[in-house]
Amino acid sequence: MTRLRQLFPEPGDREIEDVYGETLGPPHADRPHVTLNMVASVDGRTAVEGRTGVLSSPPDRAVFRLLRSLADIVLVGAETVRAEGYGTVKADDDVRAARSARGQTPAAALAIVTRSLRLDWTSRLFTESTQRPLVIAPADSEVDALRAAEKVATVVTVGQGSVDLAAALRILRQDQGVTSVLCEGGPALNAQLAAAGLLDQLCLTISPALVGGGSATILTDVAMQSPRGVTLASALVSDSELFLRYRLG
Ligand SMILES: NC(=O)c1ccc[n+]([C@@H]2O[C@H](COP(=O)([O-])OP(=O)(O)OC[C@H]3O[C@@H](n4cnc5c(N)ncnc54)[C@H](OP(=O)(O)O)[C@@H]3O)[C@@H](O)[C@H]2O)c1
Repeated sequence: MTRLRQLFPEPGDREIEDVYGETLGPPHADRPHVTLNMVASVDGRTAVEGRTGVLSSPPDRAVFRLLRSLADIVLVGAETVRAEGYGTVKADDDVRAARSARGQTPAAALAIVTRSLRLDWTSRLFTESTQRPLVIAPADSEVDALRAAEKVATVVTVGQGSVDLAAALRILRQDQGVTSVLCEGGPALNAQLAAAGLLDQLCLTISPALVGGGSATILTDVAMQSPRGVTLASALVSDSELFLRYRLG
């Protein structure tokens, strides 16, 4: 249990389970509900020397784990998998029991978006995951690379040259019954989802640090057609660290 001080909507001490517990839904008719979870420094940076570790904290990791425990699928860009050395999605007995009661698989499956299919198929993520990972790649990807992926993952091919993210989410919803997706970045994937109107919720930890340098903000490369309004759903604080939850749309 992680208890934080809530500033909004009503002030008071709250367990994060009570604040975030029911927030990954409901799904849309044609795609799952999509939550983006990110941590950024006060100056908006999302990595230090290419990784997020120093921006995170025990309560941030508790929110990260909690959101993972609730989602059907954890969606992530291939560069984040490579940079962060992604491993398996863990689920202890309590999480498995809660997921089973909700009719979910024992742990969320990782779904990796990639154009290059340049992933380490021998890594633990592919050899030891509770749920077989998904690899989402363009339909015109090299056949040999797709075959290598198919040995260790469920491969979804959609789009030409790039993954069509709207179509990929439609497939997850309609073919695989996925209702909730947790996107864990990185900024390149996030920006495409945001620009396509495919995000429903943003969970943003503001790490109490100034970082400077050139790392991306939470959305990079792809601009929104026009600024998109967001609505603050909750704000929690732990020392100087802020945990903000916004609704989009
Ligand atoms: N602060 C945080 O919360 C947080 C969270 C996540 C990541 N990060 C940081 O962000 C950095 C990585 O983020 P990033 O923005 O560089 O990369 P990213 O979004 O994680 O991944 C980009 C890669 O995803 C694949 N991809 C994305 N969109 C695609 C599409 N439409 N079709 C096909 N493939 C697609 C491509 O993979 P291929 O290259 O394989 O073709 C692309 O190079 C790291 O430094 C990481 O530490 C921070």
